[in-house]
Amino acid sequence: MRLSDRKLLFGITGSIASYKAVYIVRHLVKNEGAQIQVVMTKAATEFVRPVVFETVTGSPVYVEMFGEVGFGTVHIDLARESDLLVICPATANIIAKIACGIADDLLSSVALVKGSNMVIAPAMNDQMYLNPITQDNISKLKRLGCVVVECEEGDLACGTTGIGRLAEEKKIILAILRKLREDERLKGKKVVVTAGPTREYIDDIRFISNRSTGKMGFAIAEEALIKGAEVVLISGPNSLEKIPYVNHVEVETAEEMLEELLEHRDADYLFMVSAVEDLVPDRVEGKIKKKDGVSSINIKYAPDVVKSFREKSPGATVVGFSVEVDNAEENTRKKLEEKGLDFIAWNSPDAFASDFNDIVLYSRSGKRWHLPKGKKNDVAQRIIDIVVQGG
Ligand SMILES: Cc1cc2nc3c(=O)[nH]c(=O)nc-3n(C[C@H](O)[C@H](O)[C@H](O)COP(=O)(O)O)c2cc1C
Repeated sequence: MRLSDRKLLFGITGSIASYKAVYIVRHLVKNEGAQIQVVMTKAATEFVRPVVFETVTGSPVYVEMFGEVGFGTVHIDLARESDLLVICPATANIIAKIACGIADDLLSSVALVKGSNMVIAPAMNDQMYLNPITQDNISKLKRLGCVVVECEEGDLACGTTGIGRLAEEKKIILAILRKLREDERLKGKKVVVTAGPTREYIDDIRFISNRSTGKMGFAIAEEALIKGAEVVLISGPNSLEKIPYVNHVEVETAEEMLEELLEHRDADYLFMVSAVEDLVPDRVEGKIKKKDGVSSINIKYAPDVVKSFREKSPGATVVGFSVEVDNAEENTRKKLEEKGLDFIAWNSPDAFASDFNDIVLYSRSGKRWHLPKGKKNDVAQRIIDIVVQGG
């Protein structure tokens, strides 16, 4: 799990959105393995009872500065013992206090000790949010190095529509993961990932495609993002949720994928995870009717997308993915040579549509790694680590 070696201090303040923090804390504990200590302001306890967070985290919740749990300088210990302070939701009040260095309760005191090592997710009424005082305070925190997950537009609890909603859960979780798992070697690097199948049309209605769902490509894109990269994800038709902070580009055919890929030939890394459909039928305008008596379809091959990218972008590290059934190792290595790849990952054919994958990774220098069956995100993490190390 991605945060099993990390301790988070999770601050909750008096916002109507504080119930959403329950789901976020639960996700971080159950799905990411984080150890979480919750600190609530007094106002926050008016919205959600501490027992909810105590049950989700398995630890007592801190509210009071004096004489509640433990003794001595609890605010200093809490700050020292955690890798990151998250404040979610963050009221206009706590943001103003942190920006001014006010420490008049436990959470604001911990924040002052913690410095800029913070992720803050504000939530409030639109007028409070757009008030120049709040905006100045947010800008100041950003300037000092805090990560601020900006509010979103939508319906607000006060009955109006506007900006002020707590950012969506996935955005907050990715910001936390990124802050804790950034890798200097990928920070600011441009990573292009392709995912999913492509479609080649027989007529205006029917097409040839394959069983790829895009899950492995999306997992690579998410892990590269968490490691600090700037990620472009070029995907064929799929039904997966978009990943926040990723530049999503949607295509349908192999030709379109190649065109988009060449727009990004300045990439530092290309992970060519998509299953480009290489059988291209002659396309008939309109819809083929039974009465036309079609008996055969002329097929040609799609352009070799990854090979073309490699020719145009000799400096990028290019990682191909293959699904070979017969003579898997020999054919995979052959592909690596023929297409000028730096690495190639052989996928198990069982990986289609599954949340798991079983990979054998080969490098141009002749090395081989077997990554045993695991969740696609875990496997993606390992592939990226090996590739970034240079094999
Ligand atoms: C029903 C209700 C909802 C509130 N929602 C918010 C909110 O979403 N954001 C905010 O900044 N303040 C909100 N407030 C005001 C804060 O609770 C108030 O400013 C409080 O002093 C914040 O204290 P804290 O920052 O110590 O938690 C709300 C107040 C009420 C009564």
